[in-house]
Parts: sequence; structure tokens; C-alpha cells
Amino acid sequence: MDLSSFRTEIATLENECAAALRGAGDLASIEAVERKYLGKSGTLKGMLAKLGALPKEQKAEAGKLANEAVKRAEAALGEARERAQRAALSAAIEDKGFDVTIPGPVPRTGSLHPVTRVRREIEDQFASMGYAILDGPEVELEHYNFDDLNTPPDHPARESMDTFWTTTPGLCMRSHTSPVQVRGMRWWRKQGFPLPMRAIAPGRVFRNETVDASHEHTFHQLEGIVVGHGISIANLRHSMRAALRGVFGRDLEVRLRPGFFPFVEPGFELDARCTHCEGKGCAFCKYSGWVELLPCGLVHPHVIDAGGFDSKQHTGFAFGLGLGRLTCLRHGIADVRQILSGDVRVLRSFP
Ligand code: PHE
Repeated sequence: MDLSSFRTEIATLENECAAALRGAGDLASIEAVERKYLGKSGTLKGMLAKLGALPKEQKAEAGKLANEAVKRAEAALGEARERAQRAALSAAIEDKGFDVTIPGPVPRTGSLHPVTRVRREIEDQFASMGYAILDGPEVELEHYNFDDLNTPPDHPARESMDTFWTTTPGLCMRSHTSPVQVRGMRWWRKQGFPLPMRAIAPGRVFRNETVDASHEHTFHQLEGIVVGHGISIANLRHSMRAALRGVFGRDLEVRLRPGFFPFVEPGFELDARCTHCEGKGCAFCKYSGWVELLPCGLVHPHVIDAGGFDSKQHTGFAFGLGLGRLTCLRHGIADVRQILSGDVRVLRSFP
């Protein structure tokens, strides 16, 4: 082979390629042309491999010819591909079956868990009433979880908590958010903040319980505490009503029943008129017309003192909201497991 026959062969292949492209109307046939001439073993690309057969002094010139031809063919292929894409698009648009008014597919996005949302709403509500939002550790000292809450080691209430103990003596998974009452009071005093102290503390709590329709071993509480001069049950009642108004968007009638917790005296269970049937009686309130909303009470003097305040001068109230339960009440869900299960079908119903 010499330079002139090399040149002829390239010209022939290039012409063939151009003609094939003119005949290729869609992307598939354009790709076929590309494979045939420019693919790994394509005929035009293959000319570069034939350089070896040429006399030494003609190689440079011939290589240049071949490379330029390959470049031209690549450019032509690119243009053909673009033309075909444009044609396909306008054909699709002109096609009578293409209705631009049909809504496109809606991408599936994540959403906040209903418990998180209810928690945030309650946080907003209390923040607007001047409460600070505090945090406490999930692995807690026995001292904060019990002793400082007027629950000494021999106290029968310890048994009822079903605490998860760690292998380190004196450390447990907190069984309620109440330890933040004492932590919070001490912190408030240390900061030198004025009274009344108003704080909430949302968080996870843990109990070694058998899981059933109304119990989980890990669940969410929101603790609240107010300490100052002359804080009374009337203040407690009023504050709870205001907070519930924020969460339920309307006034709920509430009542206080006696309840026992070592760290409050007196202690109460606060009930609300059934959020479902307005008190007429339904399966949700077990036909009593009332639903149990939250335990609360006046902070026990021992706890006030443990927090660094003086129980001779200071009084306060505290409450503990079960966030799962409140979320169920808000959305009329009968079984707490439904919202804590993590079942996406349930979660998707809260877009
Ligand atoms: N900590 C208590 C519990 O989890 C609830 C509670 C909080 C009761 C505050 C009274 C005052 O059972």
C-alpha cells in the first residue's frame, strides 16, 4: 500500500459514511453507522491500524489524513444525532397523544414523623408562653432519675418504673424526663435567671415493659416545670389549658383527679373531655366521656430543694406529657403502635 491508495480508501469510506448517515433517520440507525465506521473495529477507525503497511516516509502524512477523516466523521455523527433528537421531540409534541395539561409524576418526598410534628407544635406553644426548652441525657444517673425526685432506693415506686439498668452501677436509661426537672432547676440557678423558672424538656425515655397496644419500651415524653413564688394549682390548670388550646386549636374542658407520683404533692391526672366525641361517649374514651391527658402536680418540696431552690419560699408545678398518646388523640388513632411502628403506609398518611 502507498499514500495515494491510502488516500483513496479513506475518501471512499468517508463518502460511504456520509451517505449512510443521510439515510439514517433515527438514533438507532445513527448508532449503527457509528459502530460500523468509528467503532473499535470500525472501518474508518481501522485505517489507523493500516499505517504500518506504508513506507516509513509516508506514515506521518497518512496518519494526519486518517485522523482528520475520523474527526470529520465524528462531527457529522454528532450533528446527525442532534437532528434526530430534535425531530423525535417535535414529533412527540405534535403527536395528538401528548397532553401537556396532564400533571407530571409527583416525586415522593420524605416528611416529618407525626410525633415530631406534635412535639414541635407543643414546643412552639410553650415557647410562646415564655418557657425555655431544655435537654437532658438519655443515659442518666440513678440519682437524677430517682433519688432527687423523692424516690429513695427503698421506695416502692421504683419497682413500677421497669428501669433498664446499665452494667455500670448508678447509671440507667432514664425511665422518664422528670430528671430534667432537677437538672433544669440547678442550671437555672447557676445562670442566675429570674423567677419564675419556666421550662419544658422533650425527649426519649425507656422502660423494660412488655410491648402492647399502649406500651413501647422506647417512647417520647415532654416534661414541664414552673418554679417561683406562690405558684399554685390554679396556675397549673390555666397553663395546661392554654397549652392544649395551642395543640388542639380549641378550648378543651379539663378536670383534675388525684394521682400519685413521689415527686409531686399533691399529684394529679389531668383529663380532658373526649377529643373524639366531645363527651357523649365513644369507643375512644371507653364511653366515659373523658380521656386521660397527662399526669401533673405541685413539685414536692424535697425536689424543689434538690434543685437548689428553697422550698420554704418557692413552689412550682410539673407535668409529663406522653407525646405518642397526644399524637394519637390529635389524629384519632386508637393504637399507639401504629405511629411508633415506623410502617411507611402509616407514615405516608401524614404527608
Ligand atoms: N414522670 C412521670 C412518669 O413518667 C410523669 C409525671 C411528670 C408526673 C411530672 C407528674 C409530674 O410517669
